Amino acid sequence: MSDKLIIFDTTLRDGEQSPGASMTKDEKVRIARQLERLRVDVIEAGFAAASQGDFEAIQAISAAVREPIICSLSRANDRDISRAAEALKAAQRKRIHTFIATSPLHMEKKLRMTPDQVFEQAKQAVRFARQFTDDVEFSPEDGSRSDMDFLCRVIEAVISEGATTINFADTVGYGVPGLYGNMLKSLRERIPNSDKAIWSVHCHNDLGMAVANSLAGVMIGGARQVECTINGLGERAGNTALEEIVMAVKTRRDHFNLDFGIDTTQIVATSKLVSQITGFAVQPNKAVVGANAFAHASGIHQDGILKARDTYEIMRAEDVGWSANKIVLGKLSGRNAFKQRLEELGIKLESEADINAAFTRFKELADRKSEIFDEDIMALVSDEEHSHDNEYYRFVSLAQHSETGERPAAKIVFAIDSKEVTCDGHGNGPVDAIVNAIESKTQSGSELLLFSVNAITTGTQSQGEVTMRLSKAGRIVNGVGADPDIVVASAKAYLSALNKLHSKVEKLNPQI
Ligand code: KIV
Ligand code: ZN
Repeated sequence: MSDKLIIFDTTLRDGEQSPGASMTKDEKVRIARQLERLRVDVIEAGFAAASQGDFEAIQAISAAVREPIICSLSRANDRDISRAAEALKAAQRKRIHTFIATSPLHMEKKLRMTPDQVFEQAKQAVRFARQFTDDVEFSPEDGSRSDMDFLCRVIEAVISEGATTINFADTVGYGVPGLYGNMLKSLRERIPNSDKAIWSVHCHNDLGMAVANSLAGVMIGGARQVECTINGLGERAGNTALEEIVMAVKTRRDHFNLDFGIDTTQIVATSKLVSQITGFAVQPNKAVVGANAFAHASGIHQDGILKARDTYEIMRAEDVGWSANKIVLGKLSGRNAFKQRLEELGIKLESEADINAAFTRFKELADRKSEIFDEDIMALVSDEEHSHDNEYYRFVSLAQHSETGERPAAKIVFAIDSKEVTCDGHGNGPVDAIVNAIESKTQSGSELLLFSVNAITTGTQSQGEVTMRLSKAGRIVNGVGADPDIVVASAKAYLSALNKLHSKVEKLNPQI
């Protein structure tokens, strides 16, 4: 008899805590819809008390997504928990996830609370959360650096108060597989009412062991829920990567003997969507979703694969949704074909006017690029969302000149609060020239931390997708832009990052 492994996705909460990965409400809803297609069991949609934006995103996801359980994080206090309950009102199935730090270091230095105070607050929080839903998760933050006797005391008490899931957090990625798995096992053995809750693992990747620790928590510790993110997105070195957990459990079913509800053929599409929206590119050699994950370069391997695929392939590219780039639409495709493809890709635009705007941009793109792939459509929709008229800065057009021996020059027209301005700039290269031209007007005072260009599909016809990461006064934001002309893509990315800085979102980090 195999057990079910619950897949709890926290891309929209812990993933979003990654500096620069903040997403708008619409972007979060798009990702949540894709997570529903991927068939995750739980979506942690945000931390309702963190900001008005988080609150509204959880509300929108609760209304838009029906199958998975929708969850909000909350610190262990009445205000946060009420806010989470309010945001989750429309959800078909809801979970409140409350947490408090239990390690001596966090209790003394961060919370400035005694262990007895933490014990009381944890109990009180779970009791309060149970008034809103019978699905309550409790996490002892920094659990893997906590004292075992104290953990047993707190967890036994919160289970008695009605916590239905206990999430053993390796908050700072300090765990190593054998130790982490055995700590969990020992907790389950020592706590008398441990069988009344489902046990969960939540690991960070600071030492590159998040996936290994999570799997040890499952195999040694008996956890039946894994908390993870798409592409391993998350603070610092990230969280446990969902795609790696799922494919490890599927490929080595002989060892794990576990089932899950995930539709693995949706993995690549989800990975691409998250990377496109957040601007966090996936490294080519990343397991499962990296561009090279199924590429066999050496002659010996290629020969083996041709004779029998399983000589060098332990999983099939198709099973995780890799397919050769498919030409889906072209210049002659009509509005209906375009609309149908959007639906097949799980993209729901708000109104007919939005579909018309996206279709106009599709036609413009098809005039410049004869073959349109799914990736192009996804980039186009993201771009459309970034360039809404209500954005403070909006790209209009540009001209640029480079010549060997000459200093590159650029002229750009863009709108500031709906008023068009034109400015010129020079630079070491065309992108530098365009950024200097924009800065001559905006004088943002921001620092450029990252500039990266990615080809969305293959060939020199491909659209370039540019990410620009800016920092200002302690805030870090990512802007993303796509266009067959990478200087235009760069200008769009820069303006998109400036828009995010302009929006001045105030957001609390739960771990601070
Ligand atoms: O890493 C962590 O401890 C967390 C908790 C809030 C579960 O993200
Ligand atoms: Zn975390």
